[in-house]
Amino acid sequence: MITHEIKIAFEEYSSLKELSKIDRLLCHEAVKAMEGSHSPYSKFRVGAALRLERGTILYGSNQENVAYPSGLCAERVALFYWGANYNNDPIEAIAITAHTADFAISKPITPCGSCLQVLAEYEKKQDKKIRIILYCIDGPVWITQGVDNFLPFLFFEERLAEH
Ligand code: THU
Repeated sequence: MITHEIKIAFEEYSSLKELSKIDRLLCHEAVKAMEGSHSPYSKFRVGAALRLERGTILYGSNQENVAYPSGLCAERVALFYWGANYNNDPIEAIAITAHTADFAISKPITPCGSCLQVLAEYEKKQDKKIRIILYCIDGPVWITQGVDNFLPFLFFEERLAEH
């Protein structure tokens, strides 16, 4: 029996002030993205902003439904919009943030496994890593370059064929 250990790495910044201007601006866009959140059931508002290579910003927010599984996370709303409409302009970065009136959020929220898998798909499609910026309003910011840091065992195409 062998025990394997995997190390992942990400950067932590104590506040928005420590970020480069371009990343800081994208965090502000993620806050703006939350305005579109439809979250009457969880009351947990999530915003995601994509920065494309040509400078366009795309917004996504969580969209809930009374039939709960019909809802979608903010990240995938933004990413699928990119996939449908802007897929020849690569995604440079995604900033994600959240807010609820019910309690203070003190750590960045991390995307769910399905959203990470979609990020992985589009990194592959555009053949470029995506900068992932997790922004906690009035708190720390976590940044990583490429989804594999957060999803080391992601499912990828090569597994669909014999090797
Ligand atoms: N949610 C997101 O939009 N992104 C995440 O990374 C985590 C969770 C949404 C889904 C649901 O609308 C609400 O947050 C509570 O889970």
